[in-house]
Amino acid sequence: SVPGPLAGRHVLVTSGPTHEPIDPVRYIANRSSGKQGHAIAAAAAKAGARVTLVSGPVNLPDPVGVTVHHVETARQMQAAVDGALPADAAIFAAAVADWRVASEAGEKMKKDGGALPALALTENPDILAGVAQRTEGRPRLVVGFAAETQNVVAYATAKRARKGCDWIVANDVSAQSGIEGGVMGGDRNAVHLISAEGVEPWPVASKTQVAERLVARIAAFLGSETSS
Ligand code: PMT
Repeated sequence: SVPGPLAGRHVLVTSGPTHEPIDPVRYIANRSSGKQGHAIAAAAAKAGARVTLVSGPVNLPDPVGVTVHHVETARQMQAAVDGALPADAAIFAAAVADWRVASEAGEKMKKDGGALPALALTENPDILAGVAQRTEGRPRLVVGFAAETQNVVAYATAKRARKGCDWIVANDVSAQSGIEGGVMGGDRNAVHLISAEGVEPWPVASKTQVAERLVARIAAFLGSETSS
């Protein structure tokens, strides 16, 4: 294994969007590129961790030295996450679709000139909350992300409490973020790290720099905790 501050640790990362099928050719998705999550996986590997990355569909190469599970849907992502545990730290950077179509059509839906199709939605499992609220096999550190378009810090703080994670990394995914190319899909990010200790604003930086700073914080946390 690679020497470094995370040597001997297992770090689990989710990244990218999920695709929720409507029929064999159509799906519901979002604008996540996977850049932020993949950068975290790469930074954790560089810091010496054994890294498992569970990725939705992205146009990025697998990070070097990382075990990657490729999935499409939220339910597949949840199964891959559960299968990858235990981990010392888990970071949930994926933009998981909150909803999927209640019953996926087995054949391509036809445009017959009749009524418009009505898509009934159902809720996807919350992967982060499921891991954060485990009573057994919970990673020592569970880090969520919060993608908000308004009231970023307040909504993210509430999300941290509701989901039960230790830290939440809040980012502004609105067009008003001032970040070229947007936070979803672009190369840079500006985040607030929210923990029980408070709210820390981080300056605008490349997604690689945000990842390295987060990984350094994770290493400091895991290093300072006494293992039982
Ligand atoms: O991929 P990029 O283009 O680089 O963009 C990065 C990013 C903006 C996608 C990333 O930085 C980010 O914010 N990821 C979380 C996006 C998101 O879906 O946020 P949310 O506020 O909807 O979800 C909150 C948290 O719960 C997230 O950690 C999410 O992974 C998790 N979640 C949400 C729903 C669900 N069903 N299961 C989950 O695990």
